Amino acid sequence: LTQERYPVKRLPFSAPSEADLAAFERIIPGRVVTDTEVLAASNVDWLRTVRGCSRVLLRPRTSEEVAHILRYCHERNLAVNPQGGNTGMVGGSVPVFDEIILSTALMNQVISFHSVSGTLVCQAGCILEELSQYVEARGFIMPLDLGAKGSCHIGGNVATNAGGLRFLRYGSLHGTVLGLEVVLADGTVLNCLSALRKDNTGYDLKQLFIGSEGTLGVITAVSIQCPPKPRAVNVAFLGCPGFAEVLQTFSTCKGLLGEILSAYEFMDAECMWLVRHHLHLTSPVQESPFYVLIETSGSRAEHDAEKLNDFLEQALRSGLVTDGTVATDQMKLKALWALRERISEALSWDGYVYKYDLSLPTDTLYDLVTDLRTRLGSQAKRVVGYGHLGDGNLHLNVTSEAFSRSLLDALEPYVYEWTARQRGSVSAEHGLGFKKKDALHYSKPPAALRLMQQLKALLDPKGILNPYKTLPAQA
Ligand code: FAD
Ligand code: MLT
Ligand code: ZN
Repeated sequence: LTQERYPVKRLPFSAPSEADLAAFERIIPGRVVTDTEVLAASNVDWLRTVRGCSRVLLRPRTSEEVAHILRYCHERNLAVNPQGGNTGMVGGSVPVFDEIILSTALMNQVISFHSVSGTLVCQAGCILEELSQYVEARGFIMPLDLGAKGSCHIGGNVATNAGGLRFLRYGSLHGTVLGLEVVLADGTVLNCLSALRKDNTGYDLKQLFIGSEGTLGVITAVSIQCPPKPRAVNVAFLGCPGFAEVLQTFSTCKGLLGEILSAYEFMDAECMWLVRHHLHLTSPVQESPFYVLIETSGSRAEHDAEKLNDFLEQALRSGLVTDGTVATDQMKLKALWALRERISEALSWDGYVYKYDLSLPTDTLYDLVTDLRTRLGSQAKRVVGYGHLGDGNLHLNVTSEAFSRSLLDALEPYVYEWTARQRGSVSAEHGLGFKKKDALHYSKPPAALRLMQQLKALLDPKGILNPYKTLPAQA
């Protein structure tokens, strides 16, 4: 898959030998995996668009074991692919060739939780949903949530700087992550696992690793600030007659719901078709060109319900919204969220998916979707738009029955050039990984790119950590 769709040449790393496997067996006895079935699953990404051919996967339990492994790989010039839940969208989580897969699956222990501050310290391989359950039982929530929560690891979330469904309210991991423990390429353990809210002692090194996609170090533990669990959560799912109304509803919403607004997501009619057709979900509202999902999180149920009702009355009266439903109970709330969260799953049932994750000016965010429908015509099976509208983040997805080179050529660089003209970002939240690394220059100037390359060379001089990812190959 990989070499055919994305031409790339193997760099001169050593190939893992029998002696290397024996050395790993001494470091992590019984946790050196060469089973072909396990490897097959870890060699291919969630979207099934890139595939590597690694012959060994390592499952350390501790930071010391990770350090030992990396020290060995560095010495032997062996390339390493850090892997969490393997839910990444840009081909960063799987090897391109025979890189050793370093999995965090067994690094799944909570280290501490402070019940007053809400600071959680845990190993990198904890599954996001399990952490959510852990902190919810103690009156807190995780500051991030995403459709992949059942599989993704917190270390993977930090490594990709995942955005997701709570970004609007709780902001980026650059703000909520208080500290990190990272093992560098040569095996050095960098313990910056602070639990402090404020700490201006020198450069904030942890920020370098947030969003570095496994290219600068292996994140082994995370300290993260959890907000208190809101006492009242409401979700409204609404139908809008046009994109202008989606935008106006957002403005009205900000004005009337203010401090309790916790999510503003949108999806178009094609997305609704996909989740109904492929996943058999039922739409709770009349058919509309657009749908929005609004979540409020507050501390007083009656107060929040009153505010939400005022907003809904106004939105319906002024024709911004044509139909809607509201949920407060857990079951209905989950069912409404599923319509939005499961779009990526529905898309993967539709055929080959060309996935773009763009930051664009909110006012013109949907124009690219409309424009592409005209440009691609019958070449594409479907062109859909959805995303985190409240954060100016469009998920533009195109499907076709099977991979088509001519369709890809019609999409790229067209989509990137369009985005660059708007001074947008070619990766709002998924990262660059393997598939988007050559598009970096559409969103960053040459001086920034050079500095990134210098940082990479400083932290990983042999380039063993996640090679072929994030940064374009140097001439
Ligand atoms: P992986 O996929 O295993 O790895 C991702 C990258 O991080 C790779 O480059 C890998 O090498 C690196 N990495 C992993 N662990 C470590 C570590 N411990 N140290 C260093 N590097 C590491 N993303 C969003 O931002 N918002 C969303 O709303 C969202 N929704 C999603 C919904 C679905 C259904 C799916 C499948 C994905 C979604 N994603 C979303 C993509 C997102 O990037 C991932 O879900 C998640 O953040 C990756 O975590 P992971 O543990 O699966 O990492
Ligand atoms: C989402 O918001 O659903 C995710 O980022 C996944 C995707 O874009 O498909
Ligand atoms: Zn998203």
